[in-house]
Parts: sequence; C-alpha cells; structure tokens
Amino acid sequence: MRRKLIAGNWKMNGSFASNEALLSELRAGLSAGAACDVLVCAPSPYLMQCANLLSGSDIGWGAQDVSVHLSGAYTGEVSAPMLSDCSCTYAIVGHSERRAYHGETDELVAQKTLRLLASGLKPIVCVGETLEQRELGQTNSVVSAQLRAVLDVIDVDALTNLVVAYEPVWAIGTGKTATPQMAQDVHAVLRQQLALKNPPVAEKVQILYGGSMKPENAQELLAMPDIDGGLIGGAALKAADFLAIIQAA
Ligand code: 13P
Repeated sequence: MRRKLIAGNWKMNGSFASNEALLSELRAGLSAGAACDVLVCAPSPYLMQCANLLSGSDIGWGAQDVSVHLSGAYTGEVSAPMLSDCSCTYAIVGHSERRAYHGETDELVAQKTLRLLASGLKPIVCVGETLEQRELGQTNSVVSAQLRAVLDVIDVDALTNLVVAYEPVWAIGTGKTATPQMAQDVHAVLRQQLALKNPPVAEKVQILYGGSMKPENAQELLAMPDIDGGLIGGAALKAADFLAIIQAA
C-alpha cells in the first residue's frame, strides 16, 4: 500500500500575513498527525517563512520550480542547492503553466529533474494533455513522451525519489475534473511506463492527480488504485478545503 501525498501548489499567491494565517490553521488542523504525507509548495520568497513556521510539524515545504543551472550569471533564477538551503524536500518541475508560459520543453524538465535529484530533493514531475490533445486521442502518447524524457536521463535508483503528477491541462483552475476512471486510466499508463524502468520500484512511486481537486471530489479520486495523492491549486489556499482533502486521503 502506497502512502498518499497531498501537496498544495500555491502558485503565485500569498503574503507573509496570509501565509501565516493559512499555515497556523493547517498546523492546528493536523496537530494530531496526518495519515498521509502533506506538503506545501510556496513561492521562493516564502520558503524560509514555511521553514520557520512548519519546522517540527508533519507538514513539509517545497518549491514550484528550479533552475536548470547550478549557479552563476542567471539573473532571477533559483538553484537546487538554494532550495536545499531552505530545507525544501520537494520541488515541482514541468508544471503545465511553466510549459505553456515559459516555453519549457520535455528535455528542460528532464534536466531540472536531474538537478533536484543531485541536491537530494524529490522532484514532482508534472505531465498532462491539453483539451485538444485529449479530443484527438493523444492523451497517452503525450503524457508518455513527457515522462519518457525524464526516465531517459535518470538513474534506475533515482526512481525511488521521483513523484509524478498527472494534471490534465483542461482541468486546471477550470472547475472541470477528470472523472476518477479517466484519471485512473492515465495513472495506470504512467505506472506501466515506470515499470519498464524498474518494476518493483514503480509500484512504490506516488502518482498524484491535479486539476480542480476539492473536498467534494477528493475521496472518489483518491479511492482509485493508482491515484496516490493530489497536487492541489486553488483549494490549497483555503485551510478548511486543504484539510478536508487531507482527511479524505
Ligand atoms: P487547481 O487545483 O486550481 O485546478 O490547480 C491544479 C494545479 O495546477 C496544481 O498544480
């Protein structure tokens, strides 16, 4: 049985004041412990705030992206060792918003994944198809190509530290959710692909679903055999909703 992971992706939201309120509500809500892994992925300026407010709790913190470079003249970038310095344990890579608005390719996402692994961080690699690709019947080939680029460059052993998130682009922030069966079908394809790399470890990799997950639909999504958690956008900004999803896991 895989332990579930409920991860919040705050995207470009928050302030010191609102984060403090959110995190203290989450800590209070989870004071008796959580039955799953819990993570918040905050904007970089707030990572140390997370470190200060969450140390000693059951809630981890992570980043939403990482530079492909290690250090040097890359204005505006944040490196994997810097995220380690902030005691992050995870970072998201390849979110569809990075792919769409910043032109990130499968190859770049793969290189970023390597950077995270080299710094001891767990990458949450996002894959997902657009509505057009789904309607053209390309879902499986699109997500497989996105995952393959990563699997091609990482060591077999590194699979242990990988998390995959299936986020259909048409379900992100739209209120439209993949049905549990639609999501399960894609998760099963992704797990089969992981198994080509390392069959026993593929069974242990957490594959998260993301895209309008909320308290009302979390339970049925999380009940599917290959859905091992959620990557939550909007609902992660409201303590009551995020706690309800954690409860459902
Ligand atoms: P929403 O939960 O707001 O649809 O966002 C999902 C997402 O993109 C998480 O990374």
